[in-house]
Amino acid sequence: MIQRAKHRDLLAIMQLEEAGFPANERWSEQLWREELEAGNHCVLVDRDEQGVIRGVVTGHVVADVADVDRVIVAPDSWRQGIGSALMAAIMEWAGKAGAERLLLEVDAHNEAAIALYHSFGFQTLSFRADYYGPGSDACVLGVSVALPVGDC
Ligand SMILES: CC(C)(COP(=O)(O)OP(=O)(O)OC[C@H]1O[C@@H](n2cnc3c(N)ncnc32)[C@H](O)[C@@H]1OP(=O)(O)O)[C@@H](O)C(=O)NCCC(=O)NCCS
Repeated sequence: MIQRAKHRDLLAIMQLEEAGFPANERWSEQLWREELEAGNHCVLVDRDEQGVIRGVVTGHVVADVADVDRVIVAPDSWRQGIGSALMAAIMEWAGKAGAERLLLEVDAHNEAAIALYHSFGFQTLSFRADYYGPGSDACVLGVSVALPVGDC
């Protein structure tokens, strides 16, 4: 079940950060708090039947462009479609918020994330050398949001 995240979900989100990223790549609790509070941002969480949070995604929209800023799934729930469900949900939100294009940056070595984004039609637009530190390049990926097609 995918829902908007609340402040009370911060602890679970920080546990996803710790499981998903090495210490030097983690977002801080303050940064996540700001994600939750910013008006043009959307933080969504996926919960299992017991209400336990298994994944999170956040994105924001400025004019007609949305950025997918972070997606994390708990390692014991990988390859069950949760990352895909979160991506679909944030893309739907972005489209409703007026975005016509989605952009994101991803570590060029992050094969799992790149495969996930490719499965949603994201294509490589450019590279940013050493973006995440020496030897860690970023790929900039983008996709157009499918706009509803009217009746012929
Ligand atoms: C990237 C991540 C969110 C994927 O979540 P997930 O729930 O496992 O993704 P899904 O199960 O929806 O996978 C969808 C598709 O993505 C691709 N994919 C996902 N994990 C993959 C992996 N380890 N290797 C190769 N392809 C992978 C596959 O095409 C997969 O489809 P398939 O399972 O039918 O083959 C998860 O690995 C993660 O949280 N990683 C750590 C945090 C991170 O790096 N986030 C991205 C940068 S912000």
